[in-house]
Amino acid sequence: MSGLFIAFEGGDGAGKSTQANILAEKLSRQGFRSVLLHEPGSTTLGDYLRRYLIGDGPISNVAELLLFEASRAELMTDRIRPELEAGAIVICDRFTGSTVAYQGHGRGLDLEKIQWLNDLATHGRYPDLTILLDIVPAVGLERVHNRLFQLALPIGDAPDRFEDEELRFHDRVHQGFNRQADNNPKTWRKVEGNQSIGDVADVVWSTVYPMLPHLKVCSETV
Ligand code: TYD
Repeated sequence: MSGLFIAFEGGDGAGKSTQANILAEKLSRQGFRSVLLHEPGSTTLGDYLRRYLIGDGPISNVAELLLFEASRAELMTDRIRPELEAGAIVICDRFTGSTVAYQGHGRGLDLEKIQWLNDLATHGRYPDLTILLDIVPAVGLERVHNRLFQLALPIGDAPDRFEDEELRFHDRVHQGFNRQADNNPKTWRKVEGNQSIGDVADVVWSTVYPMLPHLKVCSETV
């Protein structure tokens, strides 16, 4: 598969969606074809599963894990693989790193089994670059709660099942993300999330830019 595959990871309130959007816009302004996706979701099945997964209906830890993997398997087959084969830059807001952090370190499910499921769902195609927006959980959660409060969102948009978890859960998730970044220095880049949006975007761009030139869209006709 050609193309370039970039994932954004981090705890709740780390600013992933904002940074993923900024990167996608910068890329298209520079003439690159980029596709912005998010997990869980971005397919018909994934959007359906997302509604349950981030809602507050009952679900066991193993069922939760399998639904995230089902959403991912569909996303890989339906969107990521075809886009990469067509030479696009795929930006994914969360990917396998979230399952390792939330279901593995957070819920305490077996990390080797999660790895096996991630391999199955992705066909072994992992991001070329994973940007971890690192933020202390208490700060991230405060951002989430302030955002909900400021927007005066209706009840359906109340904190989801993960945002509502106790701080100890988010501390484990945070450690899980950091461990992955430390164990995979060639493909993971940790960025301090507690700085201005513009400063984070600059670090993201300086990390992504050197990976781009061979993908530049050629506007000449032959
Ligand atoms: P979302 O609203 O997308 O949150 P965020 O904007 O913080 O990404 O909700 C996704 C939630 O699902 C988020 O709290 C993390 C969780 N999640 C997992 O627990 N495992 C996973 O594999 C993925 C992809 C997400």
